[in-house]
Amino acid sequence: MLNRYTETKLIGFVSPNSHEGLTFAQMIGGPHAHVDVGPLQYDDIDIGDPVPARCLKNGLWMGHDKGLPFAIMPAPGGRFGFQTGVGVEVAVAIGEQGAQFSQDFFRQLEQAISEGRSYRGRAISLEAHHHMMGGGSSVKVHRLAKVNREDVILPQKTLATLDRNVAGFMAARDALKSMRFQARKGLLFYGPPGTGKTHTIHYLASQLPDHTTLLVTAEQVGLIGEYFRLARFLQPSMMVIEDVDLIARERTQMRTGFEEVLLNKLLNEMDGLREDSEVLFILTTNRPDQIEPALVSRPGRIDQAIEFPLPDEEGRAKLTKLYARDLQISDELLDLIVRRTKGVSAAFIKELMRRCAQFQIEASGGKLLAQAAVDAALEEMLFAGGALNRRLLGGEGTEP
Ligand SMILES: Nc1ncnc2c1ncn2[C@@H]1O[C@H](COP(=O)(O)OP(=O)(O)OP(=O)(O)O)[C@@H](O)[C@H]1O
Ligand SMILES: [Mg+2]
Repeated sequence: MLNRYTETKLIGFVSPNSHEGLTFAQMIGGPHAHVDVGPLQYDDIDIGDPVPARCLKNGLWMGHDKGLPFAIMPAPGGRFGFQTGVGVEVAVAIGEQGAQFSQDFFRQLEQAISEGRSYRGRAISLEAHHHMMGGGSSVKVHRLAKVNREDVILPQKTLATLDRNVAGFMAARDALKSMRFQARKGLLFYGPPGTGKTHTIHYLASQLPDHTTLLVTAEQVGLIGEYFRLARFLQPSMMVIEDVDLIARERTQMRTGFEEVLLNKLLNEMDGLREDSEVLFILTTNRPDQIEPALVSRPGRIDQAIEFPLPDEEGRAKLTKLYARDLQISDELLDLIVRRTKGVSAAFIKELMRRCAQFQIEASGGKLLAQAAVDAALEEMLFAGGALNRRLLGGEGTEP
């Protein structure tokens, strides 16, 4: 990016207060002004690749642009020892040419960031560092399990709705945009625990290698403003806000003003996002009734709600086969499992199969599942632990 300038030089520096984030003003004057030329320092930044990216931590570029001398300094931005990102300062002579230079420089920098592919196809979140004097945040890269389509067991209609609203929408997005339709979209996934909302998000993230996935949890919602800025910066992006009921309770049920501020902030940010922003929002909840009606009723915030139901007979049979892995199940036993798991979640069946395998190994070994192992596993999951255990495992809907 700096190739177009002449006589450029990059030098490193050390300063006793560099953890505070150095500025030109501090460098030139002020009580703590003491800067020496020193080695260039780099940080290893995890971007999800096996080898981290080396990024210059602080340095000073000097050079000329059409005779105009300039200095550019990237330095860790921070307060009280907490890094809050990277600050970039430009120093130029006063006047028209200098102003033009710094404007051009920042425009190019912004473009370079949006063209950068470091986080494409990756899932990231912001980690807040709390401190009594202020907070900061850094980017954390998540390694999501790759989920294939055949691993997602949902009713045909649900899958078709998902396809149209995600893959289909992405395919049509450029054409829609050229006809002046909105490029952003909001989906709400709702359903009982363990029915595959998070699982499906992992599947979608695996399907969208060009997108950056931003994961927001209820605890990080204080950073929602930063998330929206990042989602715009790194678009096309998918922003996932899990358990949105925790932040978006009906206003009347809110106990503290703090939560209400966050909810308003979320709604405002969603509203305020430019129509051409290529951002897909996915909100999840298992308590849709608790969600502020404004969130669901206003198109443009949520365009489509998708229900994740408890699996029906066909779903339970598919799930049993999927999660039986290398265990062999006779058709009669499969029927029996399907009949006896009415009302359980997908996650329940996954756990049931693991227990079946363990009981089978303990009884006789071998890969062919016997009914005794199924009986023992169901007994343990549904009855031995009582109602709480049943609820915990996602078997609440079963009839004991
Ligand atoms: N529909 C499904 N198809 C295949 N596997 C599933 C499905 N639903 C759940 N599972 C399995 O159960 C695990 C837990 O489910 P998941 O975390 O997706 O539930 P959830 O709907 O997000 O629940 P919660 O509301 O508690 O967040 C998944 O990692 C996956 O292995
Ligand atoms: Mg979940």
